[in-house]
Amino acid sequence: MMETKTQTLQAVSSISEMKEISQSFRKQNLTIGLVPTMGCLHEGHLNLVKRSLETCDRTVVSIFVNPTQFGPDEDLDTYPRQLQSDIEKLEGVDILFHPSNEEMYPTDYKTYVQVQDITEHLCGKSRPDLFKGVSTVVLKLFNIVRPHNAYFGEKDWQQLAVIEALVEDLNLDVVLNRVPIVREPDGLAMSSRNQYLSQQERQTALSLSRSLKEARDNIRQGTTSAKVISDLIRQGLSGKEGVEIDYISICDPKTFRGKEQVCGRTLIALAVKVGPSRLIDNCIIEEI
Ligand code: PAJ
Repeated sequence: MMETKTQTLQAVSSISEMKEISQSFRKQNLTIGLVPTMGCLHEGHLNLVKRSLETCDRTVVSIFVNPTQFGPDEDLDTYPRQLQSDIEKLEGVDILFHPSNEEMYPTDYKTYVQVQDITEHLCGKSRPDLFKGVSTVVLKLFNIVRPHNAYFGEKDWQQLAVIEALVEDLNLDVVLNRVPIVREPDGLAMSSRNQYLSQQERQTALSLSRSLKEARDNIRQGTTSAKVISDLIRQGLSGKEGVEIDYISICDPKTFRGKEQVCGRTLIALAVKVGPSRLIDNCIIEEI
């Protein structure tokens, strides 16, 4: 007999308990959806949750600020943590999995997985520890939760490609679901790191989505030179206080190799430091 859906969110921090729960879901033929997050939940995360709730019998949301994906000079210590208010946002979710660092990485921890090639570009270039940490923690979460479906946002386009490679190359039994970027009404891509922005910086941060829109409009009007487009974006971003461009990439959306001409499906991806926050955004240009 099918178990009826539990009404309240169950918070689990132990790996063995999480495994037992997943095993019991699977024994009852219930499909499990997993939404991995680092918390400080916003509508971008909640849209992934919604997708899982719509398609899976049980939804597990993980909140774990994964130390292995932060570089030594990055914001691990200051990354916003607000478990209590996150819990209030998880309506309809069955399980919140929030392990401690010690639970995930005990002192004798030794194993990391590394996706090659596609991790050498864009964010992987400026944050060399990022994708090794992401693929390791996501593989661990998949092994612990054993989801049928997992949900990831296209805001982190390259992260999604890395996880797709991980699933394909290691023959993992999970279906990945891509979910489009959720934006604030004024266009800013939602991000937990937007919390660091002052009002002034919040205004400045709008130049990311604005310059992507301008690029898209120019491409629609016939501009195909990647250099012209990237110069336009650079112009739209620079000259503002506290802005530091990490990269502007016009590239193949699968290999992340740069393109000279915008032809075929093309990804335009940006990483820009605005004050204390490193923000990313992207848009996809379908075949033109
Ligand atoms: P985090 O930044 O918390 O994001 C969790 C998930 O939410 C990711 O799949 C991300 O792409 C998605 N997301 C964030 N902002 C979004 C937005 N504005 N629109 C759509 N989706 C959005 O990404 C991570 O955590 C970590 O690297 C993680 C995968 C959990 C591994 O530690």
